[in-house]
Parts: sequence; structure tokens; C-alpha cells
Amino acid sequence: MRIAIVGAGGNAREIAAIVRAVPRGGPSEFDFVGFVVSDLGAIGPHDSRDMLLGDFDCLRAHSINALAMGCGEPSAKLRLSAQLCAEFPDLQWPTLIHPSALIDKDSVQLGSGVVVCVGAIVTVNVVIGDFSQLNFGCTVGHESQIGRGCLINPGANISGGVVLEDGVLIGTGAQVLQYLRIGQGATVGAGAVVTSDVPPGVTVGGVPAHPLSS
Ligand SMILES: CC(C)(COP(=O)(O)OP(=O)(O)OC[C@H]1O[C@@H](n2cnc3c(N)ncnc32)[C@H](O)[C@@H]1OP(=O)(O)O)[C@@H](O)C(=O)NCCC(=O)NCCS
Repeated sequence: MRIAIVGAGGNAREIAAIVRAVPRGGPSEFDFVGFVVSDLGAIGPHDSRDMLLGDFDCLRAHSINALAMGCGEPSAKLRLSAQLCAEFPDLQWPTLIHPSALIDKDSVQLGSGVVVCVGAIVTVNVVIGDFSQLNFGCTVGHESQIGRGCLINPGANISGGVVLEDGVLIGTGAQVLQYLRIGQGATVGAGAVVTSDVPPGVTVGGVPAHPLSS
């Protein structure tokens, strides 16, 4: 499967490493072709120029048949995935799971385009929505429901029975206590301990977590 990664920043490079780590010869063998971006004029100083194929128009020229979302920021990845699914309906979005991740494959449901990074742990009866990313070393406990386009950053712990609605960002090392609901588009800051529900669109941080000024 010839796969390109959407985005060219650090997160995209980490996802390229996951693609390379998937064992070859298996049912989902990937051939990493390069990075594609929405706007070549917006390439930043930390973005890869090496293996940058071009903008989305180049997908046809390179005979790509699968994509992985390398953009982490939830609203951007929801927007880009919707755009790409509309423009390129034949392209596949495989789930990408690093071999070191621990997942109860019998009971966990992974949506299209989900990425599970190095050392992430997903226990039982968890549902992960399309285009969500579990970054390295995070954990997701029993019966949690992770919406579409969420990003759970390194070392964050999502306790059992938690609901993340669509487009939620959980910052590095944050803790979300059991059976809480984090509303659509909310952000939990790095290092926060969330002890009560978070309304949609609100950014919280601190211990215990409280709304932050912007
Ligand atoms: C919470 C967060 C989204 C806020 O970002 P922002 O909207 O740009 O906010 P600012 O940096 O302007 O900070 C606003 C206020 O919140 C405070 N703040 C920022 N992040 C905080 C955090 N994680 N915990 C507690 N307070 C925080 C700032 O000190 C500032 O306080 P002040 O108004 O008293 O000066 C961001 O700081 C964060 O934690 N992002 C997650 C980063 C992450 O996980 N990175 C991993 C990449 S792999």
C-alpha cells in the first residue's frame, strides 16, 4: 500500500516512523512515499522538505492509495480529513498501530485513520473515533469513548469510562479522572488533573483543572 502522510512537521515525522515500524509482509504492508501538505506556501521552519511530495494535487501523480493524518491539532485534522475524503474518496485511511502499543484487540474498536503511537496502552471496551491519535506513552482505560479527531498527547492518562467528544485535545501528561465528559473541541492543558466535566470549546489547566484565560 503506497501511503503518504498529511503534514510535514514533527508529528508527521513520528507517524512516518510508525509506518516504517509496521512489520513488512503482513496484511497491511506500507510503502511510505512522502509528505503532502495543504499549502506549500505555509511550510514552516520545523517542517520537512526532505520527502515532501507537494500539495494535495500531487496525490494523483504519485499513485498514492492510502493516507495517514500527520497533523495533530484537532480542528485542523478534522477539516483536512473532511476535505481529503471529499476530494479523494478512493484513498484508504488505515489504522496505524506501533508494534509496541498494547491494545485489547478483542474489545477495542478503532476507527478509520486512527494512529496509536509508541508505547500507548488501550485496555478494554474502548471506542476510538476516526482520525484520533493516541500519542506515545498515553493510556486509555476501560469503556472510554474517544470521539473523532481527538489528540491525546504523550503520557496523558484517560481513566475508565471517560467520554471525549469530537476534536478534543488532551495535553502532555494530563490526567482525566473516571467517568468524566470532555466537551467537543475542548482543550485540556499539559499537566492538568481534570476532576469535573469540561464544557465544549473550553480550555482548562492546572490541578485541579479550571478554565484558563486566553
Ligand atoms: C493549555 C494550552 C492549550 C494554552 O495555550 P494558550 O491558549 O496559547 O495559552 P497561553 O500560553 O496564552 O496561556 C494562557 C494562560 O494559561 C496559563 N497556562 C498555559 N498552559 C497551562 C497549563 N498547561 N497549565 C496551567 N496553566 C497554563 C498561562 O500561564 C497563562 O496564564 P496567565 O494568563 O496567568 O499568564 C497550552 O499551554 C497547553 O498546555 N497545550 C498542550 C501542549 C502539549 O500537550 N504539547 C505536546 C506536544 S507533543
